[in-house]
Amino acid sequence: MINLGSTKIGMSGWKNEKLLSDETLKNIYGKQAFQYFNQTNSSLFVFSHSKSFDLIELEQLLQAVGWGRRPLRRVKRALDNSLIKVGLWQHDPKFPKLIGFARCTGDGIIDATIWDVAINPVYQGYGLGKQLMEYLMKSLKREGISRVTLFADSDVITFYKRQGWTLEPKGNKCAFWYSN
Ligand SMILES: CC(C)(COP(=O)(O)OP(=O)(O)OC[C@H]1O[C@@H](n2cnc3c(N)ncnc32)[C@H](O)[C@@H]1OP(=O)(O)O)[C@@H](O)C(=O)NCCC(=O)NCCS
Repeated sequence: MINLGSTKIGMSGWKNEKLLSDETLKNIYGKQAFQYFNQTNSSLFVFSHSKSFDLIELEQLLQAVGWGRRPLRRVKRALDNSLIKVGLWQHDPKFPKLIGFARCTGDGIIDATIWDVAINPVYQGYGLGKQLMEYLMKSLKREGISRVTLFADSDVITFYKRQGWTLEPKGNKCAFWYSN
C-alpha cells in the first residue's frame, strides 16, 4: 500500500468504501489488478495486465495523444505478440473507460522493450503515467526480466529520467535500422 498525498491506494484488502472488493476487482479487471482512488477528481482507476482490450477504444486513446491511425488487424496481431499489455481504466461497473495503456515486447526471459505508453490528455498530470510505469515494471520483474529498454521522444525524456531511467551514452550502445 502506498500513500500519494492525501490519496490512499491499496493492492488488495484495503478497507475503503471507495475501493472495490477483491472479488469484484478480480471479476472485472482480472488477476493482479491494482486500484487507486483519486480524490481530486473522485474517480477510481484500475491498472490491469489481464483485462482484454476493445481495439477501437485503444486506437481512440492512442489517437487522442496524437499518434497516427493503424490498421486494426495489425494492431491486434501486435498485441497478440506482445509480452505484457497494461491498461488503465477509469472504473465504471458497466462500462470501464480505457484512459491509459502501455505494452512490452521481448523474449519473456531476459529482455523487454516498452512501447505505446499513453495517458488520455484529459487525465494527464495526475501521476497516472508514473503509476502505469510502476505497475508495468512490477509485472516485468515478476517475470524475472532483468533488462528493459524503451524509445522516448525528446520531450518526454524527463518523464522517464525522473523514474530512474538512464539515457544510453550517445552513439555508444545503440543502433537502429528502419526499412524506409
Ligand atoms: C508521457 C505521459 C505518459 C505522462 O503521463 P502523465 O500521467 O501525464 O504523467 P504523470 O502525471 O504521472 O507525471 C509523473 C512525473 O513526470 C513529469 N512529466 C509528465 N509528463 C512529462 C513530460 N512530457 N516531460 C517531462 N516530465 C513529464 C510530471 O511533471 C511528474 O513529475 P513529478 O513526479 O516530479 O511530479 C503522458 O503525458 C502521455 O501520454 N503523453 C503522450 C504520449 C507520449 O508521449 N508517450 C510517451 C512515449 S515515449
